[in-house]
Amino acid sequence: MRALLTGLGSWGMQWYEKLTLRDDIILAGAVDLNTQLWKTGNADCRFYADAREAMDAIKPDFVLNATPPNVHRLINDLAFDRNIPVLCDKPIADNHDDVIHIVSRAANGQKLMIAENYRYAPQSRRVKDCLIQKQVGTINEIHMLFRRCHHIDNYHMSMEHPMLMDVGIHHLDMLRYFTESEAKSVYAKFHTPPDSWYSGYSNAELRITMRNGIKVIYKGSLDADVCETGWYGRWDFIGETGTLRFEPEDGEANESGNAVLDSFIDYVRHGTIPETHISDNFKTYGIAQAAMRSFNERGEIIL
Ligand SMILES: NC(=O)c1ccc[n+]([C@@H]2O[C@H](COP(=O)([O-])OP(=O)(O)OC[C@H]3O[C@@H](n4cnc5c(N)ncnc54)[C@H](O)[C@@H]3O)[C@@H](O)[C@H]2O)c1
Repeated sequence: MRALLTGLGSWGMQWYEKLTLRDDIILAGAVDLNTQLWKTGNADCRFYADAREAMDAIKPDFVLNATPPNVHRLINDLAFDRNIPVLCDKPIADNHDDVIHIVSRAANGQKLMIAENYRYAPQSRRVKDCLIQKQVGTINEIHMLFRRCHHIDNYHMSMEHPMLMDVGIHHLDMLRYFTESEAKSVYAKFHTPPDSWYSGYSNAELRITMRNGIKVIYKGSLDADVCETGWYGRWDFIGETGTLRFEPEDGEANESGNAVLDSFIDYVRHGTIPETHISDNFKTYGIAQAAMRSFNERGEIIL
């Protein structure tokens, strides 16, 4: 399959390496406005600054969209207008209008999977197996802690909710995956410490009740310069007979990325709906949206 990659930033470059190494994919082109990121070393790959020109020239079998969230709609629309399937990085978009627009285009027949990779990591699969086997009995509560000192000068700086929408969204998706349930109610608070690197909300506290009764306490911070966790955070699954702690080291990202690609290729070739199809990922976004509403309306949101 011939791929076109849009966005060659810090994450897009990781996709570039992965796509180059795959036997079942030819990375036929890559797009970035910044020509300094045009990388050599892949003889098949042609570089473009304009996504429309690249799609028309290359006619790829799919587009992998690794541009910033506020650009996802533009790139997805260009692909959808040409009936090209899209694997789009998370979050769906950084604002509600764009999310609804993207979801409705997919509902009208365009193929779209969100590359929400955390649940695809082997370590997440192992924890899910333990939960299914009820190794600590029925889970009553989940406490989740995420702490990183994440100082990066990119689109995060203009997001209102960098913690929730760009990082917490991973954890909310894991929560749905681990509990096999949807959120029933959400209460949220956000803040930004005075000495924060961020102008948007860099800290989030959520209390979620899942439909199956599990109570969830979530704390996330992008300003933590001590006691950092990995990107997946630290999970305590408190069950009837014990507590299962999940605190993985970072490092299985490569496998999760390839698992995402396997799933997406199966979708494009055979129509098998992937776990993180847009219709499913929209539910993850729904929890984040409820959290923002809860904060704005100063109360619990019932979903
Ligand atoms: N799954 C993960 O673990 C993970 C990790 C990091 C980032 N991401 C996601 O990947 C995406 C990109 O993140 P990043 O950290 O690489 O961002 P980045 O800011 O480092 O890079 C984005 C790149 O897109 C380019 N770009 C912007 N507008 C463009 C356009 N119209 N056409 C072509 N190129 C354009 C920019 O020049 C830049 O090089 C985001 O959606 C982010 O949430 C996912």
